[in-house]
Amino acid sequence: MKTLEKNEILEKRKEFLMPSVSHYYENPPVIAKGSMQYVWDTEGKKYLDMFAGIVTVNAGHCHPEIAKRLKEQIDTLQHTTTMYVTEPIVRLAMKLAEITPGDLKQSFITNSGTEANEGAALLSKMATGSQDFIALRNSFHGRSMMSMSLTGQYNWRIGGPYVAGVQFVSSAYCYRCPFGKTYPSCSLECAKDVENVIRAATPGKIAAFIAEPIQGNGGVITPPPEYFKEVHVIVKKYGGLFISDEVQTGFGRTGNKWFGIEQWGITPDIMTMAKGMGNGLPIGGFITKPEIAAKLGPGQHFNTFGGNPICSTGALASIEVIEKEGLKENAAKIGAYFKDKLVELKDKFQLIGDIRGMGLMLGLEFVKDRKTKEPAIKETKQFMEFCKDKGLLVGKGGLDGNVIRITPPLRITKEDVDLAVQIFDSVLKEIKV
Ligand SMILES: Cc1ncc(COP(=O)(O)O)c(C=O)c1O
Repeated sequence: MKTLEKNEILEKRKEFLMPSVSHYYENPPVIAKGSMQYVWDTEGKKYLDMFAGIVTVNAGHCHPEIAKRLKEQIDTLQHTTTMYVTEPIVRLAMKLAEITPGDLKQSFITNSGTEANEGAALLSKMATGSQDFIALRNSFHGRSMMSMSLTGQYNWRIGGPYVAGVQFVSSAYCYRCPFGKTYPSCSLECAKDVENVIRAATPGKIAAFIAEPIQGNGGVITPPPEYFKEVHVIVKKYGGLFISDEVQTGFGRTGNKWFGIEQWGITPDIMTMAKGMGNGLPIGGFITKPEIAAKLGPGQHFNTFGGNPICSTGALASIEVIEKEGLKENAAKIGAYFKDKLVELKDKFQLIGDIRGMGLMLGLEFVKDRKTKEPAIKETKQFMEFCKDKGLLVGKGGLDGNVIRITPPLRITKEDVDLAVQIFDSVLKEIKV
Protein backbone atom coordinates (compact mmCIF):
# COMPACT_ATOMS: atom_id res chain seq x y z
CA MET A 1 0.00 0.00 0.00
CA LYS A 2 1.31 3.44 -0.95
CA THR A 3 2.04 5.59 2.10
CA LEU A 4 0.36 8.99 2.25
CA GLU A 5 2.34 12.24 2.31
CA LYS A 6 2.24 14.28 5.53
CA ASN A 7 -0.10 16.91 4.06
CA GLU A 8 -2.42 14.25 2.69
CA ILE A 9 -2.63 12.56 6.11
CA LEU A 10 -3.52 15.88 7.74
CA GLU A 11 -6.12 16.69 5.06
CA LYS A 12 -7.73 13.25 5.08
CA ARG A 13 -7.75 13.20 8.87
CA LYS A 14 -9.76 16.39 8.81
CA GLU A 15 -12.06 15.08 6.08
CA PHE A 16 -12.72 11.57 7.40
CA LEU A 17 -12.41 11.80 11.18
CA MET A 18 -14.92 13.72 13.26
CA PRO A 19 -13.84 17.19 14.34
CA SER A 20 -13.95 15.98 17.94
CA VAL A 21 -10.80 13.95 17.16
CA SER A 22 -8.60 16.95 17.79
CA HIS A 23 -4.83 17.08 17.98
CA TYR A 24 -2.10 18.93 19.81
CA TYR A 25 -0.02 21.55 17.97
CA GLU A 26 -0.69 24.06 15.22
CA ASN A 27 1.82 22.23 13.09
CA PRO A 28 1.55 18.60 14.24
CA PRO A 29 4.16 16.03 13.33
CA VAL A 30 2.86 12.76 11.88
CA ILE A 31 4.28 10.13 14.20
CA ALA A 32 5.45 7.07 12.33
CA LYS A 33 7.69 5.03 14.62
CA GLY A 34 8.51 4.52 18.28
CA SER A 35 11.23 2.87 20.30
CA MET A 36 11.40 3.05 24.10
CA GLN A 37 11.33 6.76 25.13
CA TYR A 38 11.62 8.08 21.58
CA VAL A 39 9.30 8.53 18.60
CA TRP A 40 10.04 9.62 15.03
CA ASP A 41 7.86 11.50 12.57
CA THR A 42 7.37 10.73 8.88
CA GLU A 43 10.21 13.11 8.03
CA GLY A 44 12.64 11.17 10.20
CA LYS A 45 12.78 13.74 13.01
CA LYS A 46 13.38 12.20 16.43
CA TYR A 47 11.46 13.29 19.54
CA LEU A 48 12.07 12.57 23.19
CA ASP A 49 8.59 11.56 24.33
CA MET A 50 7.88 13.09 27.72
CA PHE A 51 4.13 12.46 27.53
CA ALA A 52 4.08 8.76 26.57
CA GLY A 53 0.80 8.81 24.67
CA ILE A 54 -0.93 10.51 27.60
CA VAL A 55 0.68 8.75 30.54
CA THR A 56 0.38 5.35 28.93
CA VAL A 57 3.57 3.90 27.45
CA ASN A 58 5.12 3.21 30.85
CA ALA A 59 7.50 0.45 29.71
CA GLY A 60 8.51 2.23 26.48
CA HIS A 61 7.39 2.28 22.86
CA CYS A 62 7.51 -1.07 21.04
CA HIS A 63 9.38 -2.72 23.91
CA PRO A 64 10.92 -5.81 22.26
CA GLU A 65 9.90 -8.29 24.95
CA ILE A 66 6.29 -7.09 25.04
CA ALA A 67 6.17 -7.04 21.23
CA LYS A 68 7.52 -10.61 21.07
CA ARG A 69 4.92 -11.95 23.49
CA LEU A 70 2.17 -10.09 21.65
CA LYS A 71 3.23 -11.50 18.29
CA GLU A 72 3.17 -15.03 19.70
CA GLN A 73 -0.32 -14.45 21.09
CA ILE A 74 -1.58 -12.93 17.82
CA ASP A 75 -0.51 -16.08 16.02
CA THR A 76 -2.17 -18.32 18.61
CA LEU A 77 -5.56 -16.95 19.72
CA GLN A 78 -6.99 -13.46 19.40
CA HIS A 79 -10.58 -13.40 20.62
CA THR A 80 -13.26 -15.53 22.23
CA THR A 81 -15.01 -13.27 24.86
CA THR A 82 -15.09 -14.17 28.54
CA MET A 83 -18.00 -16.53 27.87
CA TYR A 84 -15.24 -18.97 26.92
CA VAL A 85 -12.43 -19.86 29.28
CA THR A 86 -8.92 -18.75 28.27
CA GLU A 87 -5.62 -18.59 30.14
CA PRO A 88 -4.22 -15.06 29.54
CA ILE A 89 -7.00 -13.18 31.40
CA VAL A 90 -6.56 -15.49 34.39
CA ARG A 91 -2.82 -14.98 34.49
CA LEU A 92 -3.31 -11.21 34.27
CA ALA A 93 -5.88 -11.22 37.09
CA MET A 94 -3.52 -13.28 39.28
CA LYS A 95 -0.76 -10.72 38.68
CA LEU A 96 -3.07 -7.80 39.49
CA ALA A 97 -4.01 -9.47 42.78
CA GLU A 98 -0.30 -9.86 43.54
CA ILE A 99 0.70 -6.22 42.87
CA THR A 100 -2.32 -4.38 44.30
CA PRO A 101 -2.35 -3.59 48.02
CA GLY A 102 -4.30 -5.25 50.86
CA ASP A 103 -6.95 -7.80 50.02
CA LEU A 104 -7.83 -6.47 46.59
CA LYS A 105 -8.10 -9.70 44.68
CA GLN A 106 -10.82 -10.07 42.05
CA SER A 107 -10.71 -8.15 38.77
CA PHE A 108 -13.06 -7.22 35.98
CA ILE A 109 -11.16 -6.42 32.78
CA THR A 110 -12.34 -3.69 30.39
CA ASN A 111 -11.01 -1.91 27.29
CA SER A 112 -10.53 1.53 28.82
CA GLY A 113 -10.42 3.66 31.94
CA THR A 114 -13.88 5.04 31.24
CA GLU A 115 -15.36 1.56 31.31
CA ALA A 116 -13.41 0.73 34.45
CA ASN A 117 -14.91 3.71 36.25
CA GLU A 118 -18.40 2.89 34.93
CA GLY A 119 -18.07 -0.62 36.30
CA ALA A 120 -16.69 0.55 39.62
CA ALA A 121 -19.61 2.97 40.03
CA LEU A 122 -22.12 0.25 39.24
CA LEU A 123 -20.46 -2.14 41.67
CA SER A 124 -20.47 0.52 44.41
CA LYS A 125 -24.22 0.99 44.07
CA MET A 126 -24.85 -2.76 44.09
CA ALA A 127 -22.55 -3.35 47.05
CA THR A 128 -23.79 -0.54 49.31
CA GLY A 129 -27.40 -0.12 48.23
CA SER A 130 -26.68 3.63 48.18
CA GLN A 131 -26.85 5.88 45.13
CA ASP A 132 -24.77 8.94 45.95
CA PHE A 133 -21.19 9.63 44.92
CA ILE A 134 -18.64 12.14 46.10
CA ALA A 135 -16.08 13.25 43.54
CA LEU A 136 -13.40 15.93 43.49
CA ARG A 137 -13.40 19.19 41.62
CA ASN A 138 -10.69 19.29 38.93
CA SER A 139 -11.04 15.51 38.49
CA PHE A 140 -11.21 13.55 35.25
CA HIS A 141 -12.75 10.10 35.13
CA GLY A 142 -13.68 9.49 31.48
CA ARG A 143 -16.08 10.21 28.67
CA SER A 144 -19.20 8.13 29.24
CA MET A 145 -22.24 9.76 30.87
CA MET A 146 -21.41 8.32 34.30
CA SER A 147 -17.71 9.08 34.16
CA MET A 148 -18.37 12.59 32.82
CA SER A 149 -20.82 13.04 35.67
CA LEU A 150 -17.98 12.17 38.07
CA THR A 151 -15.62 14.60 36.32
CA GLY A 152 -15.16 17.97 37.99
CA GLN A 153 -14.14 20.17 35.07
CA TYR A 154 -16.64 22.10 32.94
CA ASN A 155 -14.72 21.59 29.71
CA TRP A 156 -14.97 17.79 29.97
CA ARG A 157 -18.66 17.81 30.90
CA ILE A 158 -20.81 18.24 27.87
CA GLY A 159 -24.08 16.84 26.55
CA GLY A 160 -25.90 16.67 29.90
CA PRO A 161 -28.13 16.04 31.77
CA TYR A 162 -25.68 14.12 33.87
CA VAL A 163 -26.20 11.07 36.01
CA ALA A 164 -27.87 12.30 39.19
CA GLY A 165 -26.40 11.87 42.64
CA VAL A 166 -22.83 13.15 42.24
CA GLN A 167 -21.65 15.84 44.64
CA PHE A 168 -18.33 17.60 44.22
CA VAL A 169 -15.94 18.54 47.00
CA SER A 170 -12.96 20.86 46.76
CA SER A 171 -9.77 19.18 45.71
CA ALA A 172 -6.55 19.51 47.66
CA TYR A 173 -5.19 22.13 45.27
CA CYS A 174 -2.79 23.91 47.60
CA TYR A 175 -1.45 26.32 44.97
CA ARG A 176 -4.99 27.68 44.54
CA CYS A 177 -6.51 26.68 47.87
CA PRO A 178 -10.29 26.95 47.50
CA PHE A 179 -10.44 28.07 51.13
CA GLY A 180 -7.74 30.69 50.76
CA LYS A 181 -5.55 28.90 53.31
CA THR A 182 -1.94 27.76 53.32
CA TYR A 183 -0.71 24.26 54.04
CA PRO A 184 0.11 23.07 56.74
CA SER A 185 -1.69 25.69 58.85
CA CYS A 186 -4.95 25.02 56.96
CA SER A 187 -6.08 22.06 59.14
CA LEU A 188 -6.92 20.33 55.84
CA GLU A 189 -10.13 22.24 55.31
CA CYS A 190 -10.51 20.43 51.97
CA ALA A 191 -10.68 17.01 53.67
CA LYS A 192 -13.27 18.30 56.13
CA ASP A 193 -15.31 19.52 53.15
CA VAL A 194 -16.05 15.86 52.33
CA GLU A 195 -17.99 15.43 55.58
CA ASN A 196 -19.75 18.78 55.18
CA VAL A 197 -20.93 17.90 51.67
CA ILE A 198 -22.06 14.38 52.67
CA ARG A 199 -24.11 15.88 55.52
CA ALA A 200 -25.53 18.67 53.37
CA ALA A 201 -26.22 17.04 50.04
CA THR A 202 -26.72 13.29 50.50
CA PRO A 203 -28.99 11.15 52.71
CA GLY A 204 -26.01 10.65 55.01
CA LYS A 205 -24.99 7.44 53.27
CA ILE A 206 -22.96 7.24 50.11
CA ALA A 207 -22.15 4.59 47.53
CA ALA A 208 -18.59 5.76 47.00
CA PHE A 209 -15.97 8.45 47.04
CA ILE A 210 -13.85 8.47 43.88
CA ALA A 211 -10.53 10.25 43.39
CA GLU A 212 -7.28 10.19 41.48
CA PRO A 213 -4.37 9.98 43.96
CA ILE A 214 -2.78 12.77 41.91
CA GLN A 215 -5.15 14.57 39.55
CA GLY A 216 -3.63 14.20 36.11
CA ASN A 217 -5.76 15.94 33.54
CA GLY A 218 -6.73 18.50 36.21
CA GLY A 219 -3.11 19.64 36.27
CA VAL A 220 -1.01 17.20 38.34
CA ILE A 221 -2.73 18.36 41.52
CA THR A 222 -0.90 16.63 44.33
CA PRO A 223 -2.53 16.56 47.78
CA PRO A 224 -0.73 16.92 51.10
CA PRO A 225 0.35 13.51 52.47
CA GLU A 226 -2.38 13.33 55.15
CA TYR A 227 -5.28 14.32 52.90
CA PHE A 228 -6.51 10.92 51.77
CA LYS A 229 -6.07 9.36 55.22
CA GLU A 230 -8.48 11.92 56.63
CA VAL A 231 -10.91 11.53 53.75
CA HIS A 232 -10.82 7.73 54.05
CA VAL A 233 -12.04 7.90 57.66
CA ILE A 234 -14.95 10.14 56.62
CA VAL A 235 -15.92 7.93 53.66
CA LYS A 236 -16.03 4.87 55.92
CA LYS A 237 -18.06 6.74 58.55
CA TYR A 238 -20.79 7.31 55.96
CA GLY A 239 -20.79 3.76 54.59
CA GLY A 240 -19.10 4.50 51.27
CA LEU A 241 -16.55 2.60 49.24
CA PHE A 242 -13.26 4.32 48.47
CA ILE A 243 -12.45 4.13 44.75
CA SER A 244 -8.94 5.03 43.69
CA ASP A 245 -8.80 5.94 40.01
CA GLU A 246 -5.32 4.74 39.09
CA VAL A 247 -5.69 5.24 35.36
CA GLN A 248 -2.79 7.71 35.36
CA THR A 249 -1.07 7.00 38.66
CA GLY A 250 -0.88 3.22 38.27
CA PHE A 251 1.83 0.83 37.21
CA GLY A 252 4.83 2.54 38.77
CA ARG A 253 4.15 6.07 37.53
CA THR A 254 4.55 7.80 40.91
CA GLY A 255 7.75 5.94 41.81
CA ASN A 256 8.68 2.88 43.90
CA LYS A 257 5.06 1.78 44.45
CA TRP A 258 2.80 0.14 41.90
CA PHE A 259 -0.14 2.46 42.57
CA GLY A 260 -0.52 6.11 43.49
CA ILE A 261 -2.81 5.63 46.47
CA GLU A 262 -0.09 3.56 48.16
CA GLN A 263 1.95 6.77 48.40
CA TRP A 264 -0.74 8.09 50.73
CA GLY A 265 -0.97 4.96 52.92
CA ILE A 266 -4.53 3.97 51.97
CA THR A 267 -5.91 0.67 50.77
CA PRO A 268 -8.98 1.47 48.68
CA ASP A 269 -12.03 -0.76 48.32
CA ILE A 270 -11.87 -0.57 44.54
CA MET A 271 -9.05 0.42 42.23
CA THR A 272 -9.67 1.34 38.61
CA MET A 273 -6.91 1.22 36.02
CA ALA A 274 -6.06 1.51 32.31
CA LYS A 275 -3.39 3.44 30.33
CA GLY A 276 -0.03 2.14 31.70
CA MET A 277 -1.64 -1.23 32.35
CA GLY A 278 -1.21 -2.23 28.70
CA ASN A 279 1.60 0.08 27.61
CA GLY A 280 -0.63 1.35 24.79
CA LEU A 281 -2.98 -1.58 24.28
CA PRO A 282 -6.68 -0.86 24.85
CA ILE A 283 -7.12 -2.44 28.28
CA GLY A 284 -8.42 -1.32 31.66
CA GLY A 285 -10.07 -2.86 34.67
CA PHE A 286 -11.18 -2.63 38.24
CA ILE A 287 -10.18 -4.76 41.18
CA THR A 288 -11.80 -5.23 44.57
CA LYS A 289 -12.16 -7.52 47.56
CA PRO A 290 -14.08 -10.78 46.99
CA GLU A 291 -16.90 -9.79 49.36
CA ILE A 292 -17.55 -6.61 47.34
CA ALA A 293 -17.10 -8.36 43.97
CA ALA A 294 -19.77 -10.86 45.03
CA LYS A 295 -22.40 -8.11 44.86
CA LEU A 296 -22.22 -8.16 41.08
CA GLY A 297 -23.33 -11.68 40.38
CA PRO A 298 -22.70 -13.99 37.42
CA GLY A 299 -23.78 -12.33 34.17
CA GLN A 300 -24.61 -8.99 35.83
CA HIS A 301 -21.72 -7.32 34.04
CA PHE A 302 -20.18 -8.12 30.67
CA ASN A 303 -17.76 -6.76 28.09
CA THR A 304 -17.18 -8.34 24.66
CA PHE A 305 -13.51 -7.43 24.25
CA GLY A 306 -12.41 -6.89 27.86
CA GLY A 307 -9.59 -9.24 28.80
CA ASN A 308 -9.14 -10.61 25.29
CA PRO A 309 -6.07 -12.82 24.93
CA ILE A 310 -3.99 -10.22 23.08
CA CYS A 311 -4.52 -7.34 25.51
CA SER A 312 -4.25 -9.60 28.55
CA THR A 313 -0.96 -11.02 27.29
CA GLY A 314 0.37 -7.55 26.50
CA ALA A 315 -0.67 -6.17 29.89
CA LEU A 316 0.94 -9.04 31.77
CA ALA A 317 4.11 -8.63 29.72
CA SER A 318 4.15 -4.86 30.43
CA ILE A 319 3.76 -5.39 34.17
CA GLU A 320 6.52 -8.02 34.16
CA VAL A 321 8.84 -5.69 32.22
CA ILE A 322 8.21 -2.85 34.69
CA GLU A 323 9.06 -5.29 37.49
CA LYS A 324 12.08 -6.93 35.86
CA GLU A 325 13.68 -3.71 34.69
CA GLY A 326 13.14 -1.83 37.97
CA LEU A 327 11.11 0.90 36.26
CA LYS A 328 9.16 1.85 39.39
CA GLU A 329 12.44 2.49 41.13
CA ASN A 330 13.78 4.40 38.13
CA ALA A 331 10.66 6.57 38.16
CA ALA A 332 11.37 7.51 41.79
CA LYS A 333 15.07 8.19 41.23
CA ILE A 334 14.89 10.02 37.91
CA GLY A 335 11.66 11.75 38.91
CA ALA A 336 13.36 13.26 41.98
CA TYR A 337 16.31 14.38 39.86
CA PHE A 338 13.92 15.91 37.31
CA LYS A 339 11.93 17.76 39.97
CA ASP A 340 15.09 19.28 41.44
CA LYS A 341 16.06 20.56 38.00
CA LEU A 342 12.58 22.03 37.50
CA VAL A 343 12.84 23.84 40.83
CA GLU A 344 16.09 25.42 39.56
CA LEU A 345 14.22 26.55 36.44
CA LYS A 346 11.46 28.05 38.57
CA ASP A 347 14.03 30.30 40.24
CA LYS A 348 14.98 31.58 36.79
CA PHE A 349 11.62 32.05 35.09
CA GLN A 350 8.66 33.96 36.54
CA LEU A 351 6.28 32.13 34.20
CA ILE A 352 6.57 29.00 36.36
CA GLY A 353 4.18 29.54 39.26
CA ASP A 354 4.25 26.06 40.75
CA ILE A 355 5.99 22.72 40.36
CA ARG A 356 4.32 19.58 41.67
CA GLY A 357 3.93 15.87 41.27
CA MET A 358 5.73 12.71 42.23
CA GLY A 359 7.91 10.16 40.47
CA LEU A 360 7.52 10.64 36.74
CA MET A 361 4.21 12.45 36.98
CA LEU A 362 5.29 16.07 37.17
CA GLY A 363 3.59 19.36 36.41
CA LEU A 364 4.56 22.99 35.88
CA GLU A 365 1.78 25.51 36.32
CA PHE A 366 2.33 28.62 34.19
CA VAL A 367 1.08 31.99 35.39
CA LYS A 368 1.35 35.47 33.92
CA ASP A 369 2.08 36.94 37.31
CA ARG A 370 3.08 35.11 40.48
CA LYS A 371 1.01 37.47 42.66
CA THR A 372 -2.30 37.30 40.77
CA LYS A 373 -1.67 33.72 39.53
CA GLU A 374 -3.47 34.58 36.30
CA PRO A 375 -3.23 31.43 34.14
CA ALA A 376 -0.74 31.80 31.27
CA ILE A 377 -2.82 29.96 28.68
CA LYS A 378 -1.32 31.25 25.44
CA GLU A 379 2.22 30.84 26.79
CA THR A 380 1.54 27.22 27.74
CA LYS A 381 0.48 26.45 24.16
CA GLN A 382 3.56 28.23 22.83
CA PHE A 383 5.78 26.30 25.22
CA MET A 384 4.41 23.00 23.94
CA GLU A 385 4.78 24.02 20.30
CA PHE A 386 8.35 25.31 20.73
CA CYS A 387 9.38 22.19 22.68
CA LYS A 388 8.00 20.01 19.89
CA ASP A 389 9.96 22.00 17.30
CA LYS A 390 13.08 21.25 19.33
CA GLY A 391 12.32 17.53 19.48
CA LEU A 392 10.56 17.23 22.82
CA LEU A 393 6.95 16.19 23.44
CA VAL A 394 5.17 17.25 26.64
CA GLY A 395 1.49 17.32 27.61
CA LYS A 396 -0.91 19.93 28.88
CA GLY A 397 -3.66 20.01 31.50
CA GLY A 398 -5.41 22.07 34.15
CA LEU A 399 -8.86 23.61 34.13
CA ASP A 400 -7.43 26.56 32.19
CA GLY A 401 -4.94 24.53 30.14
CA ASN A 402 -1.97 26.22 31.80
CA VAL A 403 -0.19 23.23 33.29
CA ILE A 404 2.59 21.41 31.46
CA ARG A 405 2.47 17.69 32.18
CA ILE A 406 5.60 15.56 32.16
CA THR A 407 4.83 11.84 32.15
CA PRO A 408 7.45 9.99 30.09
CA PRO A 409 8.07 6.26 29.77
CA LEU A 410 9.42 5.18 33.17
CA ARG A 411 12.75 4.21 31.64
CA ILE A 412 14.10 7.71 30.90
CA THR A 413 17.66 8.47 31.95
CA LYS A 414 19.42 11.43 33.58
CA GLU A 415 20.68 12.36 30.12
CA ASP A 416 17.10 12.54 28.84
CA VAL A 417 16.21 14.81 31.76
CA ASP A 418 19.22 17.04 31.11
CA LEU A 419 18.22 17.35 27.46
CA ALA A 420 14.60 18.14 28.37
CA VAL A 421 15.65 20.76 30.92
CA GLN A 422 18.03 22.35 28.41
CA ILE A 423 15.17 22.58 25.89
CA PHE A 424 12.80 23.95 28.55
CA ASP A 425 15.38 26.59 29.43
CA SER A 426 15.86 27.73 25.83
CA VAL A 427 12.10 27.74 25.14
CA LEU A 428 11.33 29.72 28.29
CA LYS A 429 13.86 32.33 27.17
CA GLU A 430 11.90 32.70 23.91
CA ILE A 431 8.48 33.16 25.49
CA LYS A 432 7.44 36.75 26.13
CA VAL A 433 4.86 37.08 28.91
C1 LIG B 1 -7.74 9.53 35.72
C2 LIG B 1 -8.44 9.06 34.49
N1 LIG B 1 -9.50 8.25 34.62
C3 LIG B 1 -10.14 7.77 33.55
C4 LIG B 1 -9.77 8.11 32.27
C5 LIG B 1 -10.49 7.55 31.09
O1 LIG B 1 -9.69 6.59 30.50
P1 LIG B 1 -9.92 6.17 28.96
O2 LIG B 1 -9.53 7.33 28.12
O3 LIG B 1 -9.05 4.97 28.80
O4 LIG B 1 -11.36 5.82 28.82
C6 LIG B 1 -8.66 8.95 32.09
C7 LIG B 1 -8.22 9.31 30.74
O5 LIG B 1 -7.44 10.20 30.51
C8 LIG B 1 -7.99 9.44 33.23
O6 LIG B 1 -6.94 10.25 33.11
